[in-house]
Amino acid sequence: MITRAHADSHTDTCSYAGIVRAKSRRTVSAAKSYSLSTMAPQDLQSAGSVKQQIAKLFEESLRTTVPDEGDVEPAIAPCQNPKFGDYQCNNAMGLWSRVKGKGTQFKGPQLVGQAIMNNLPPSEMIESCTIAGPGFVNIILSKHWIAKSIQKMLVHTIETWASEIPVKRAVVDFSSPNIAKEMHVGNLRSTIIGDTLARMLEFSKVEVLRRNHVGDWGTQFGMLIEYLFEKFPSGEVSGDQAIGDLQAFYKASKQRFDSDPAFKERAQRAVVSLQGGEEKYRKAWAEICEISRRGYESVYQRLGVQLEEKGESFYNPYIPRVVELLNEKGLIEESEGARVIFIKGKKIPLIVVKKDGGYNYASTDLAALWYRLYEEKAEWIIYVTDVGQREHFEMVFTAAKQAGWLPAEDNKYPKASHVGFGLVLGEDGKRFRTRSTETVKLVDLLDEAKNRCREALVQRGKSEEWTAEELDKTAEAVGYGAVKYADLKNNRSTNYTFSFDQMLNDKGNTAVYLLYAHARICSIIRRSGKDIEELKKIGTMELDHPDERVLGLHLLQFLEIVEEACTNLLPNILCEYLYNLSEDFTRFYTNCQVVGSAEETSRLLLCEATAIVMRKCFYLLGITPVYKI
Ligand code: ARG
Repeated sequence: MITRAHADSHTDTCSYAGIVRAKSRRTVSAAKSYSLSTMAPQDLQSAGSVKQQIAKLFEESLRTTVPDEGDVEPAIAPCQNPKFGDYQCNNAMGLWSRVKGKGTQFKGPQLVGQAIMNNLPPSEMIESCTIAGPGFVNIILSKHWIAKSIQKMLVHTIETWASEIPVKRAVVDFSSPNIAKEMHVGNLRSTIIGDTLARMLEFSKVEVLRRNHVGDWGTQFGMLIEYLFEKFPSGEVSGDQAIGDLQAFYKASKQRFDSDPAFKERAQRAVVSLQGGEEKYRKAWAEICEISRRGYESVYQRLGVQLEEKGESFYNPYIPRVVELLNEKGLIEESEGARVIFIKGKKIPLIVVKKDGGYNYASTDLAALWYRLYEEKAEWIIYVTDVGQREHFEMVFTAAKQAGWLPAEDNKYPKASHVGFGLVLGEDGKRFRTRSTETVKLVDLLDEAKNRCREALVQRGKSEEWTAEELDKTAEAVGYGAVKYADLKNNRSTNYTFSFDQMLNDKGNTAVYLLYAHARICSIIRRSGKDIEELKKIGTMELDHPDERVLGLHLLQFLEIVEEACTNLLPNILCEYLYNLSEDFTRFYTNCQVVGSAEETSRLLLCEATAIVMRKCFYLLGITPVYKI
């Protein structure tokens, strides 16, 4: 394959520019008289990303250029080097190898590229095209079209820039702590990443079932319940009073379990009684779950995360039937007393029913997957856990493929995806811990982030300027935002180092820097004294300065970025976009005077559009924006 750098270095001047320019001039004048308030309803629908819109034009051209080759998918990519254009079409080389020797009029890839360019339908989008290297078609977009597209968004909200994912309903299984164990930083990653993925899908018009698959049905309950009965035999005190600190209670019962074989046996019998539905056991179980739930609810509330709990116990009644279904397909075999499924490409089978007849993590996940596909009719099921569980999910998904629940091909729906993430490390490079406790309590962590932000604000004199509530809200938005962003900006599969000093730095790629950048834009608009809502209706945007054009194009690319982040389940793509956006804005603001300039209206509109796109990015990342600093 020819690299893009190679392609760009061979820019040729055999240009299509003249033709397109003439055409676009026509459309440009049309654009100017275009009234935004009389826009037809179909204009409110997303026309698709810039990339998709360009692809549509090339699709048409390819049909004309090589009618005998069937539908050729346009290969469109942004130009790596902006000197040559904004986007490029890379089909010529591939097509040449298909048509050569077939006696067509083409004598080489460059001529194929030339023909693709000449056959482009007229479009107001395109300013000019050139051919580079062996037939790459470079496109420069019309700045009038860019401006018009942004203005449309300003009038009709950014929801018109939603990308479309070919899925109606999805499940995002995230957070999912184990009951009786305190939520820790690992759960934090799942909660933050999962919430962002859910938000991005929702923005893309997918109905998302946000599922908290809490571990509420393991053997640990036998131990907890038995310990509860032992300590409070009368059952008179409420679970709340008896248990107090659930984590300490868990530890104590585990110690008892490990040191006394008789207790261990009783605990194992208690599991059977619980799973058999015995009232007394059920009640104790429900109480323990409730205490635990209250603990993590408070974390979700602080983080602004919505989740619906459907824990492991929910799927328990479905397991026998699902095992039966798998058996009917001939997938289940006996192995060393257990019932298992042999998985293609794996040496060890997936245990579906244990030797003692009990079910396990895998049985529950098979039942849950079945339920999500057939009862909830989800087309995409996404699991967010640490990378350590990759093997487990690979096996469950392969079993589902063998059962015919999922198509064999990974690019088809319904689809199941495992979103794995790395460890959270301390600054010493080891697993993240604090001095005093083994694991870090999430709540303490969030408190510390908030307190440090408040401190920084006080030092900047904000406690005199702002009300106590403003101070509090801002400290929260920046502090929690910083924790989330520090996590999301990394490629999730790598380990990430938790450092307050780094994440709370107001320079560099941090939420603090980005939130402040947003607040600064808002203050530019405020200081102008203009009614921005009015300007949106009557003003016109021009992108004559190169830095205005770069910023404008970057804004338009929001759509394809969300789409890319969604399809690849990679929030860091959106973070990188947001950071680059604020850099583009800074360059624009440094080089283009806004308030008091001849271009004030147009530039204020550009500021407003930037602020809107930034806010949508914040929203998708679960970060609350701040408007003043
Ligand atoms: N409770 C599990 C854990 O803490 C995560 C559950 C993930 N979801 C699932 N369907 N298995 O490791």
